[in-house]
Amino acid sequence: MGDLLDDIKKIKKILLPGPIDIEDEVLRAAAIKPISHRIPEFSSLYLEITRMYDELVGLRRGDGETILAPGSATLGLDMVYANLLTEKSRVLVVKYGFFAKRLEWMVRRYSRSVDVLETAPGTLPSLDEILGRVENREYSVVTMVHNETSTGVTARYIDELARICRKNNAIFILDAVSSIGAEELKASDWGIDVVVAAPQKAIGAPPGLAIITLNKRAIEAVEAARRHRSVPYYYDIPMYIRYKREHGWIPTTPPTNNMYALYVALKKIHRYGIDKFIEMHKKRSEKIYRYAEKKGLKIFPENNEYRSRSVLVIEKNNAISIVDYVKKKYGILIATGVAEMADKLIRIGMMGFMDEGGIKKAIDIVSAL
Ligand SMILES: Cc1ncc(COP(=O)(O)O)c(C=O)c1O
Repeated sequence: MGDLLDDIKKIKKILLPGPIDIEDEVLRAAAIKPISHRIPEFSSLYLEITRMYDELVGLRRGDGETILAPGSATLGLDMVYANLLTEKSRVLVVKYGFFAKRLEWMVRRYSRSVDVLETAPGTLPSLDEILGRVENREYSVVTMVHNETSTGVTARYIDELARICRKNNAIFILDAVSSIGAEELKASDWGIDVVVAAPQKAIGAPPGLAIITLNKRAIEAVEAARRHRSVPYYYDIPMYIRYKREHGWIPTTPPTNNMYALYVALKKIHRYGIDKFIEMHKKRSEKIYRYAEKKGLKIFPENNEYRSRSVLVIEKNNAISIVDYVKKKYGILIATGVAEMADKLIRIGMMGFMDEGGIKKAIDIVSAL
């Protein structure tokens, strides 16, 4: 067997809906030696990463806390549910794709009373449909995905939904894994209680961390839930918050090198300007949708208003073999659909500082097949 990394190096371009192609400057930071995570140099790094991230997620100083947990975004979501839900919690899962299905699977492990409001893949439940439920059923928690990476659909009523949840005493938990940086998100102004995200999407850093933001209301709810039962040690959100506040530490050994890279990726976004970065996603996606349609491709979500700005999803038969062919022939990684849609959809990432030309080239290739 040859060197397996040689095969990996053959991949020239990554156009996945995460992990995305990482800028050289970010990648180089990951090659710095992993220092101790118990020295002041590390604490400064952790605190600066979360300070920069808080600006991206719109959490004002003093409104809550962002913690990093070693693991993927799914760990972050599972931690949040484990800390917030009890058997008696009444939960509403708003579901319009595969990643929300995962939320449902997770939530059902903690609560017996779970309602699901579901629409077909490629569509989105209307705000009125959700309100109809939230206003009548006394939910303690409402949870959903902001940008459904599996279908390329984005819910752009998060501000209103967060307000309704607060009015009805429900904690609102948002999976912003593939929207953070690509969509406007204002945790403090909109009153979103919990936001979970990851570095490997629009932020443009390597995977390996869950980024969890809780406002004061969510932290209080976690503490209240704690009085009724304990959570696994590794999942203990109050412990993560205490370690951060008292020492600037993460309780266990973190992926230090990924944090170096995340720091540089966030600095790049700040240098560029957060609002400009979000606007760039909007403008680029509009151009990409126009281009893909001009090339005769069928965009999966029909409604322009909820089309994603971070992933282009097109309907295409034999998606699995096409994606494989594109990898072998061109060294370009694009993605198939997810689960039962695997062979019917092709997904092309358009997030972070990806250049438009690369995305258009992938569209050219796919439309010719
Ligand atoms: C919307 C959404 N939620 C959750 C996840 C899971 O993230 P991870 O694989 O980092 O656990 C993904 C991954 O693509 C996602 O797109």
